[in-house]
Amino acid sequence: MRLILLGAPGAGKGTQAEVIREKLSIPAVSTGNILREAQKNGTELGLKAKSYMESGALVPDEVVIGILKERIAQEDCQNGFILDGFPRTVPQAQALEEMGVEIDRVVDLEVPDETILERMGGRRVCESCGASYHLLYNPPKSPDVCDKDGGRLVIRKDDAPETVRQRLQVYHEQTEPLKAFYESRGKLRIVEGQEEVADTTRLVLQALED
Ligand code: AP5
Repeated sequence: MRLILLGAPGAGKGTQAEVIREKLSIPAVSTGNILREAQKNGTELGLKAKSYMESGALVPDEVVIGILKERIAQEDCQNGFILDGFPRTVPQAQALEEMGVEIDRVVDLEVPDETILERMGGRRVCESCGASYHLLYNPPKSPDVCDKDGGRLVIRKDDAPETVRQRLQVYHEQTEPLKAFYESRGKLRIVEGQEEVADTTRLVLQALED
């Protein structure tokens, strides 16, 4: 299964990718997590991406396309993968096709902008593995500690309300056109994001079967 999770920032792509990855035994590839890791390690890539990410803009296509190409060439991606946060522009989707990557399904998680603004306010992420929690809707077992690897839970810099608004605008302008791109290829399935994470997972898994 080669799956793309589309959706606005905060729609729940990372949360669903974590659950589905375990169910399908394939890796989840998040370009956002790769870029944040590069920043944490102070690499050249991290430095290049920092200002774009902190202002809510997209990192240039050529940079993310290079990262993605390298990541999916690794051994663990040979039997499939879940892409979370890539592609985000039509040129990125075209680049995937040019790489000869055959996508099986594109699931678009639809969540209204107002709900997203509310969700981002309560989000906490693991600074070591990137897992995403919500203080009310998807809380960790112990406060401020990741259930998966015991990492510290922190607030992402780009979750400030004004940056979230900017990211939503960028999403509507540059990423939403991908719905028509994949619809025209017969790959797109729309899933309405639910209040409960498990309810959304059930709908996503259904969308993979039809
Ligand atoms: P990235 O890390 O990809 O962020 P994003 O797409 O903006 O998405 P998020 O991680 O914010 O949200 P999500 O949809 O994963 O939601 P989550 O599951 O956490 O990208 C960050 C930046 O990197 C970009 O702005 C850009 O600069 C750069 N970048 C990355 N990829 C790029 C690319 N391809 N091209 C160019 N630039 C790129 O859920 C959100 C919250 O809601 C959580 O608190 C969660 O617990 C909660 N929640 C989830 N589901 C539910 C539910 N059903 N009910 C209630 N709460 C829920």
